Amino acid sequence: MNNQDLLQIAKEYGAPVYVYDAEKIVSQYQRLTGAFGKVKHLKINYAVKALSNISVLKVLNNLGSGLDTVSLQEVQLGLRAGFRPGDIIFTPNGVSLEEIEEVAALGVQINIDNLSILEQFGTKHSDIPVCIRINPHVMAGGNTNISVGHIDSKFGISIHQMPHLLRIVENTRMRINGIHMHTGSDILDIEVFLYASEILFETAKHFKDLDFIDFGSGFKVPYKEGDIETNIEEFGKKLSRRFNEFCKEYGKDLTLAFEPGKFLVSEAGFFLARVNVVKQTTSTVFAGVDTGFNHLIRPMLYGAHHDIVNISNPDGRDRFYSVVGYICETDTFTNNRRIAQITEGDILCFKNAGAYCFTMASNYNSRFRPAEVLWYNGQAHLIRKRETFEDLVRNQVEVDLDTGKQPKQPKEENITVKQ
Ligand SMILES: Cc1ncc(COP(=O)(O)O)c(C=O)c1O
Repeated sequence: MNNQDLLQIAKEYGAPVYVYDAEKIVSQYQRLTGAFGKVKHLKINYAVKALSNISVLKVLNNLGSGLDTVSLQEVQLGLRAGFRPGDIIFTPNGVSLEEIEEVAALGVQINIDNLSILEQFGTKHSDIPVCIRINPHVMAGGNTNISVGHIDSKFGISIHQMPHLLRIVENTRMRINGIHMHTGSDILDIEVFLYASEILFETAKHFKDLDFIDFGSGFKVPYKEGDIETNIEEFGKKLSRRFNEFCKEYGKDLTLAFEPGKFLVSEAGFFLARVNVVKQTTSTVFAGVDTGFNHLIRPMLYGAHHDIVNISNPDGRDRFYSVVGYICETDTFTNNRRIAQITEGDILCFKNAGAYCFTMASNYNSRFRPAEVLWYNGQAHLIRKRETFEDLVRNQVEVDLDTGKQPKQPKEENITVKQ
């Protein structure tokens, strides 16, 4: 997929629009499985939260991937995409026992991250094997929002609570079939991964009936030219060797599982926006685009970097621009960035727009969420229509303020767990 293809997509489907390159998803998946080729049983569970479009999930299903999910709705999307329940793991945080039971009833692997729910679930369903999420107390991750394995984190069961955990397992006679950790996102240093893995191996020894060990995710992808990324190949070699040793010690060929989001889809995504206005002030030149943090919030939420290319004028002279959105709050995508000369009407392409971009989009300022397009086998396929005014008002219930009367409320169907 080249700039001309992207321009054609913007022309055909309008802007703003998200575009995903299936080939890149496939090559990243193969890179990861290749790095762990020496492990007998490997399972990649794609983290649905990164990008949950059903057609993207189908691409991953065709590759043999499983899914990592955090809500009943993500599970339902996975099932709709054709995944078998047994190929889905449910790793929620802070959800109700009822939601966990509902997901378990579908035949999905449950992963529990607190002792209260573990005790309740084990008491009621000792016949359903459960994975437990450990908090190894390792500080890892690109920033505090995405560092989730440290001592102050709300995620996981502390390794220091092992005696209590074991007592619950013994008393309820539940079976622990997997252990899991996820320490954060954008982890650069593979030594941190390997260190945390040792803690997981130590923990695993407490459980005699495991089927798998899930090492979570957090692989760092490059965001700009020359950027450092997790060295997957070296990591694969080192962890595979250690994992295979551990399996011998444990006396069983366990499955090594990962649940990457970013690694699989970040670089596959391109977000195209049109420049509405070029505005020169006394201090800067703003390029105002027909989008904002309602569609792409990562720069404002985490200070995330997205390369921005003017695909309408890629060979133009570089000039300095602050690229800003149209939201009535400050929504700066970048300040003083070198970008090829911009003219109103140009299409800007935001790179690394596959993970945590569309899935975090909202209707703030009553704007429509954009369309999504999948580039598959050299062709563009619309995989989500741009929203319309009807979508904005669909669930609003208008009260007649004169009479106080409300129209009959439509019944919520197929929803048993209240959100
Ligand atoms: C439990 C869990 N697994 C996997 C992921 C995916 O992480 P990444 O997108 O960095 O690969 C996350 C991300 O938040 C997560 O919370």
